[in-house]
Amino acid sequence: MNLTFIGTGYVGLVSGVCFSEIGNRVTCVDNNQDKVDQLNSGIVPIYEPGLKELMEKNKAQGRLEFTSSLSQAVQEADVIFICVGTPPLPSGEADLTYIKQVAHDIALEMDGYKVIVTKSTVPVGTNDNLKDMIGQLTSHAFDIVSTPEFLREGTAVKDTLHPDRVIIGTENERAAKMMTELHKPLTSNIITTDIRSAEMIKYASNAFLATKISFINEIANICEKVGADVTEVAAGMGQDRRIGSSFLQAGIGYGGSCFPKDTDALIQIAGNVDYEFKLLKSVVEVNKDQRFNVIDKLKHSLGDLKGKRIGIWGLAFKPNTDDVRDTPALEIMESLLEEQAVVNAYDPVAAENFRKGFGKCDSVEWSTDALAAAKDCDALCLLTDWEEFKEQDLLALQKIMKQPILIDGRNVFSKEQVSQTDFQYYSIGRPE
Ligand code: UGA
Repeated sequence: MNLTFIGTGYVGLVSGVCFSEIGNRVTCVDNNQDKVDQLNSGIVPIYEPGLKELMEKNKAQGRLEFTSSLSQAVQEADVIFICVGTPPLPSGEADLTYIKQVAHDIALEMDGYKVIVTKSTVPVGTNDNLKDMIGQLTSHAFDIVSTPEFLREGTAVKDTLHPDRVIIGTENERAAKMMTELHKPLTSNIITTDIRSAEMIKYASNAFLATKISFINEIANICEKVGADVTEVAAGMGQDRRIGSSFLQAGIGYGGSCFPKDTDALIQIAGNVDYEFKLLKSVVEVNKDQRFNVIDKLKHSLGDLKGKRIGIWGLAFKPNTDDVRDTPALEIMESLLEEQAVVNAYDPVAAENFRKGFGKCDSVEWSTDALAAAKDCDALCLLTDWEEFKEQDLLALQKIMKQPILIDGRNVFSKEQVSQTDFQYYSIGRPE
């Protein structure tokens, strides 16, 4: 099929590349000419394992192109995917400005029947509104489909090529059939539903995963007080198939561009229909507090942090990405600087992005390798579970630090590893 993806952010770019990989002719459109030029010259603007190779391969084979010209891309397409951002407004509500603008532009360029698919995360009812809006602007036939995206950063290519399920939200049989054909090479688990339920599935899924994380983090906090080990507890719980073992890793909480934004948006969606989503509000609150666990542990072991040298390992909100949006590292670093600690930070790929968005850059020392960040430190805090950190030799690490104090915010080291060292080791929800 001829497919057009509008917006070359995470979702649009990865989806476009992956759909070209399974044999479709794909055009990715972005109104940022610089970005289009970069993509055309083979530069991938995000760090995502495997993406560059697939992009180059499909471009070379003539199935994938990038343009800033919407009109040709719309006219040539059988299916048009809207993949622009829905960032949060100060109220927490999703900002639909970009998506409405794109729908408007598509309507004006249409020259025949099109299936218009929303991949962006949008509040329930948005697709119905887009349908009305486009219908008023064009006389050509079209159908609207909501196909929410479930890919994760860091494993986006794998998630797109091998999804657990594909949700196709549409009231129209012709569009459902086209979308089913399109997704068949990826999975046989295709669920067709109405548009509003599809929109809700996306929010409910992210909110549920966020709930699992905040739940296990609270269990971890209790474990610390009663002398239990949250990793053992999570392993035991996870064996119950009704619970499942994933997303039960305790730590300093979730970050990123999705969970914080989508949980806030769902609270708003509920609020708009006079429903208070009490559980989700608590999930958000628990998550906000959880990151300060690191500061509490530092104070517990070092007392006053003023003048103390603290190493930071990891700035990205999770490993295998350079994304620092809503990363716990942000508030932890701010808090350390407020306490007048001397901070030395390192991340394998996200440091540059972090520095761009961090107001107090000049107050921080930046290292280009993990050991340099730890050198002469009074304590080291691990904030992102990068593989590189897990592989560090703890004995060598201990030797270069001023005081062997390790705060493991992601529980990456085992008791056995640490017991062979002199580290004062603090993790989340595990006995000291
Ligand atoms: C999340 C969802 O997992 C995707 O299905 C969804 O498509 C995406 O949001 C989105 O809405 O676009 P993502 O934000 O890329 O994906 O990352 P996750 O792997 O879900 O991790 C989110 C955060 O939760 C990270 O900060 C991670 O460290 C944290 N986390 C995850 C935990 O603290 N514990 C866990 O057990 C799992």
